[in-house]
Amino acid sequence: MSHDPAVLSASPAIVLKSTRPLSDRLRAATHNTHEGVDRSIMAARPFESVRSYRGFLCVQHGIHREVSALYTRADLAALFSDMSLHSRLNAVEQDLADLGLAVPSYGTAPDGGVAALPQALGWLYVVEGSNLGAAFLLKYAKAMGLSETHGARHLAEPPQGRARYWRAFKGGLDRIALYGADEQHAIAGAEAAFAHVRELVAQHLT
Ligand code: HEM
Repeated sequence: MSHDPAVLSASPAIVLKSTRPLSDRLRAATHNTHEGVDRSIMAARPFESVRSYRGFLCVQHGIHREVSALYTRADLAALFSDMSLHSRLNAVEQDLADLGLAVPSYGTAPDGGVAALPQALGWLYVVEGSNLGAAFLLKYAKAMGLSETHGARHLAEPPQGRARYWRAFKGGLDRIALYGADEQHAIAGAEAAFAHVRELVAQHLT
């Protein structure tokens, strides 16, 4: 069965659609940024002790709070209709509570979830993708005595398994046909999401 791609916009005169799937484009465009973020997080040794893990939880709270509105958007739900997207914000809040920590306070309202659709796809890619690396982070958290039911709930594997969940998510992304500038906007959204994580790391982990 073939899927008609969801076309977000197209110029009637010139159609510049990349032949690479959107998930590949986002991965390639943010590869170096991701490595930098990983390095800066791990340099702070957040899995050395539950005490140092606190800053990591604040980073996670900040990014999941920033994008929480993405998970209530009907336009995104329609594009990912064969899976259910779930915000992990509640799980991070329970992790903070498990460790007796308050939710961080913020001076500004979150805005990562109110972007136009192409940018929103970039933000969503970053936050959903972080659940892949979470397999490793959960192992480190478990070595400190935390688990999917105490302190590391937000790193838990989705019920259908990480690989299947990710395949379904990538399938949703790759059925979307973005043209020209819209593809650049999706990449800009992903870069903005990583930049936001970098700011949170600077604030809570250094
Ligand atoms: C909040 C911080 C982080 C964000 C937003 C993030 C984001 C992402 C994204 C978007 C992907 C998917 C890449 C793809 O398209 O295949 C990914 C995968 C991955 N991340 Fe992260 N990441 C974060 C932290 C970390 C940390 C601290 C590590 C550990 C050193 C890590 C290790 C990995 C690994 C190993 C993968 C690939 C997993 C696989 O292919 O099975 N990430 N991450």
